[in-house]
Amino acid sequence: MLNFDFHNPTKILFGKGRIADLDKEVPADARVLILYGGGSIKSNGVLDEVRTALGARTVQEFAGIEPNPSYETLMHAVELARKENSNFLLAVGGGSVIDGTKFVAAAIDFEGDPWAILEKRGKNITKARPFGTVLTLPATGSEMNNGSVVTRKSLKAKVPFSSRHVFPQFSILDPVTTFTLPVRQIGNGVVDAYAHVMEQYMTYPVNAPVQDRFAEGILRTLIEEGPKALAAPQDYDARANIMWCATLALNGLIGAGVPQDWATHMIGHELTALYGLDHAQTLAIVMPSMLRLRRHAKREKLLQYAARVWDITQGDEDARIETAIAKTQEFFESVGVKTRLSDYSLDSKSVDAVVIQLESHRMVGLGERRDVTLDISRKVLEFSL
Ligand code: NZQ
Ligand code: ZN
Repeated sequence: MLNFDFHNPTKILFGKGRIADLDKEVPADARVLILYGGGSIKSNGVLDEVRTALGARTVQEFAGIEPNPSYETLMHAVELARKENSNFLLAVGGGSVIDGTKFVAAAIDFEGDPWAILEKRGKNITKARPFGTVLTLPATGSEMNNGSVVTRKSLKAKVPFSSRHVFPQFSILDPVTTFTLPVRQIGNGVVDAYAHVMEQYMTYPVNAPVQDRFAEGILRTLIEEGPKALAAPQDYDARANIMWCATLALNGLIGAGVPQDWATHMIGHELTALYGLDHAQTLAIVMPSMLRLRRHAKREKLLQYAARVWDITQGDEDARIETAIAKTQEFFESVGVKTRLSDYSLDSKSVDAVVIQLESHRMVGLGERRDVTLDISRKVLEFSL
């Protein structure tokens, strides 16, 4: 096992009716800024529930954080928070709203141009305003981690940052809030959580059996519960299981002490920045080809994955690996997320464009061994046409 630090300060409040607990978690004298997206929380009643729980506190709202939150929009929220002197932020929504709130929390008191936060990937953040979240879309894990991804539309750049200062203080996970999700977003969430586990698990063995077993447990649970969550929007147990899987997939637990890959995510971010594809759609396109092309470097873990996640133990090793990758791809398709560039009307021109973007963002040595060159990224995309 590799050396690691593990510190996760986010308190989770899980279950039905937990939004009422905001009253206990948000300081009584807080000047609260609620941040949200395009309005789903208005139509499904979540915003009303939140405002009721906040009672007599001074509350402002910032609406309009878009999927793949943009720097341009978030800077308006920074302006409002400064003007209102908001001293507690509350993100109510999916990963985009939470990621956006992390940026706002860090930018309010940042000295200089906040774009520098993204240029330095968050290393220059020295403080952030406190914030909590009410999660309405299980997918990213942002509710219990210190990462965020922000897009600067004018540059077509989608940039990740992280800082120990942007862990949420608490996150409320009420599976009932997910009942109104469109099928597409449930499928996206399952694929994103699955990909997060794979990025931390599908590398090379370092004798970390408990991390492996946790990872395999999350993958198997997503495979079992994903279809149920898709089939019945009001199946509380399925939604609860998917929600907790997605949080555990990226809260630092399974990634502690093991090598991590993330090449699929970095290529995926470029596809979103250029063509506006949903985050999970990009992962479903890139990951199967990534595994096929790097199957030699990942051989031991691929065989372990085939046996323990897909129960494939018979036959030639190469065939077992290919079957496991094919099953992964079929699973993504089965939850409604297409796995080829051509499914999204993209052709070989998009391959060239993504490679140029990767080069300009210095994404040239990706993966757990930093050996995913631009040439390999190109081949992965060509494989996915
Ligand atoms: O904006 P509203 O109206 O709320 O609608 C949203 C949005 O259109 C809708 N939605 C959310 N909850 C709903 C709902 N609709 C009905 N009922 C509900 N309960 O869903 C749409 C998508 O929301 P979004 O927040 O964009 O989705 P997701 O949670 O998948 O977040 C994606 C973003 O997270 C980043 C991605 O890159 C992308 O920008 N990621 C963040 C990570 C992190 N912080 O650790 C890791 C991930 O790998 C990922 O990169
Ligand atoms: Zn992701």
